Amino acid sequence: MDKYIISGGRRLEGRVRVQTAKNSVLPILAAAVLTDEPVTVLNVPDITDVRNMVKILGCLGCKAVYCGNDIVIDSSSADNCEIPRALAHELRSSVFLLGSVISRFRRAKIAYPGGCDIGLRPVDLHLTGLKRLGVKITESNGYINCECEKLTGNEIMLDCPSVGATENIMLAAVRAEGTTVIKNAAREPEIEDLQNFLNALGGRVRGAGSGSVVVEGVKKLGGCIYQPIADRIEAGTFLIATAMCGGDVELNGVNPENLSSLLHKLRENGCKLRAKNDKIFIRSDRRPVAVKSIETQPYPGFPTDLQAQMTALCCICSGNSIVTENLFETRFKYVPELRKMGADITVIDRSAFVRGVEKLKGATTVAHDLRGGAALVVAAMAAEGESEVLDISHIDRGYARFEHKLSSLGARIRRVGI
Ligand code: EPZ
Repeated sequence: MDKYIISGGRRLEGRVRVQTAKNSVLPILAAAVLTDEPVTVLNVPDITDVRNMVKILGCLGCKAVYCGNDIVIDSSSADNCEIPRALAHELRSSVFLLGSVISRFRRAKIAYPGGCDIGLRPVDLHLTGLKRLGVKITESNGYINCECEKLTGNEIMLDCPSVGATENIMLAAVRAEGTTVIKNAAREPEIEDLQNFLNALGGRVRGAGSGSVVVEGVKKLGGCIYQPIADRIEAGTFLIATAMCGGDVELNGVNPENLSSLLHKLRENGCKLRAKNDKIFIRSDRRPVAVKSIETQPYPGFPTDLQAQMTALCCICSGNSIVTENLFETRFKYVPELRKMGADITVIDRSAFVRGVEKLKGATTVAHDLRGGAALVVAAMAAEGESEVLDISHIDRGYARFEHKLSSLGARIRRVGI
C-alpha cells in the first residue's frame, strides 16, 4: 500500500487543469451498456473507480478499452447480466448498472455495491424507483435480483434527492415504453451531464437540474463521442489547498457555476477569487478567517464531498467553525487523524466543532476514505514539518495524478510504495 510523504509550509503558485468528473464518467460508462453502437468517452481520469467500472463492463461482455486518455466502449457483444460480489463491492457506482442491465437484458443480478465507508448507503430509493417501472426485485445472500417483462414509464417521487437513484432510474427509463417523471430528483451537475450524454445517444431526457427529470422512452439508442464535465470536487480540493497553504493559483477547464457554494465560503474565509469562462483564480495571502457554519446539503448546497477538505481548512482559521454533515452518517473518520496534527475538533452527532489553531504540525496519518484522505493531504501541505499519509489507495480512487498536480503548484509531496 503506497503512502505520501509531504513537507508542509510551502505556498502554491501556478496553473492546473481540472480532470474530467469521476461522478459523471461512472454513470456514463454504465449508460454505454444501453446501446450496441460504439461510444467514446473523452479524457477519462485514470483512477481506480474508472478502472473497476471498465472491468465490470468487461464482465458483462462489453468491450471497453482505453485509447490514450479516452475510453471506447462497444456493448454489441454484451451477454451477461450478473455482476459478482468481488467486482460490485469495489465501488458504489456498480449499482448504476442495475438500470442499464435491466433495460438491456430484462434481468440483472448484482451484488450489493461498495464505495467509501461514509455511512449506511442504502439502495432502497433505487429499488423503489425500478419497481415503479415494472421491475420485480428480490434480495438474497447479498445479491439484488431483478427481472421484468418490459419497462413501463411512470411517475416516481424520491423521498430524498439521491444522486445515484436519480441516475439509475434515468438509465432504466430511457428505453422504457412511455414517459417517466422523476420528482424530487437530485440537481447535481453530473445529473445534467448524464442527461446530455443520453440525449447524445438519441434519448429524450429533459429537466435535469430542475428537481424534476422527464424521460420519454425511445426504442433504440445510437453511439456518440462525449466529453463529460470537469470534476468540481477535484477543483474544490485545489482551491481549499490554496486557501490553506497561501498562494496564487489558476484552475483551468472548470465551470465556476458548479462551485458557487464553495466560492462563497472561501470569500468569507478572506480569499480573493475571480472566475472567468472556464477558469477560477484564487489568491490567499493571509491566515484564513473562520467561517461560522458549514452545512452540507444536496446541490446547490455545500457539497458533502468537500466537507472533509473544508473542515481541514477550518482547523487553521482564526476563530471557530461548526461543520455539519447532513447527508452521510459517518463522514468524520478523518477527524482523529487531523487531531494527530494538533487540530482542535470535537464531533458531536453530525457536527464537528472546530477551534482554529495557528498551525498544524506534521504527523503520520491514515486515509480511511477518498475525500477524508484528500483532507489529510491538504492539511499536511499546510502543516509545519513533515507528514506521512498512509493507505492512499483510497485517494487513488478519485484523484488522477494527485501528487503530480500538487507538485506542479509547488507542494513538496512524493509517493512511496511500501
Ligand atoms: C453520489 O453518491 C456520489 N458518488 C458521492 O460521491 C456523493 O457524496 C453523493 O452522491 C452525494 O452527493 C457518485 O456519484 C459515484 P446519494 P450516492 O444517493 O449516489 C441516501 C465521492 O466522494 N440514500 O445522493 O451514493 C444516502 O444514505 C462520492 O465522490 C438513501 O437513503 O449518494 C445519503 O444519505 C462519495 N437511499 C443520501 O441519500 C438510497 O437508495 C445521499 O446519497 C440512496 C441514497
